[in-house]
Amino acid sequence: MAILDAKTIEFTSNSAEQTRRLGMRLGGLLQRGACICLNGNLGAGKTTFVQGLAAGWGSSDPVTSPTFVLVNQYERLTGGMLYHLDAYRLANSLEAEDLDLTGMMEDGVLVVEWPERIDEALPADRLWVDLTYVSEGKRHLVFQPVGETYVEILNAFRKRTFGGV
Ligand SMILES: Nc1ncnc2c1ncn2[C@@H]1O[C@H](COP(=O)(O)OP(=O)(O)O)[C@@H](O)[C@H]1O
Ligand SMILES: [Mg+2]
Repeated sequence: MAILDAKTIEFTSNSAEQTRRLGMRLGGLLQRGACICLNGNLGAGKTTFVQGLAAGWGSSDPVTSPTFVLVNQYERLTGGMLYHLDAYRLANSLEAEDLDLTGMMEDGVLVVEWPERIDEALPADRLWVDLTYVSEGKRHLVFQPVGETYVEILNAFRKRTFGGV
């Protein structure tokens, strides 16, 4: 078990719907330029989470796994995109340069699976989202911010989730 700092948020999700809802809440807090790094084994719920994220960001496009396409893109109704990149088949950061990740982040939100493969091509500041399979309907989610932008996003996320108004 990792040692978690005060800025980290953890959840237990008891259904795919709940995971989608968490994604939706986060998606509503993101701005253009955001970089979300997703970790989790097959079946952990990454695609399910991104379904919520894209909806919360404001896209009504259906979300599928990027496994066979490298990058999926979802258009926000008010303009801007959400890009969902699976870096698994990229060898290194140099290969990622061809994809123009900077351009993607100018245009919207970038979500990356297997981010460690292309670490140098990604901004230092980012939000880590780790999903772990617990049991059939249950997943453990950990949100960990790097950089002030994401600390603030998670503060807002925490308020929306754990109460206040
Ligand atoms: N609490 C949960 N959160 C997310 N997915 C869940 C949960 N419980 C069951 N599931 C199911 O697990 C599967 C997760 O698949 P998917 O999101 O494609 O994972 P990944 O993209 O990480 O491979 C889906 O069939 C989903 O319905
Ligand atoms: Mg997937």
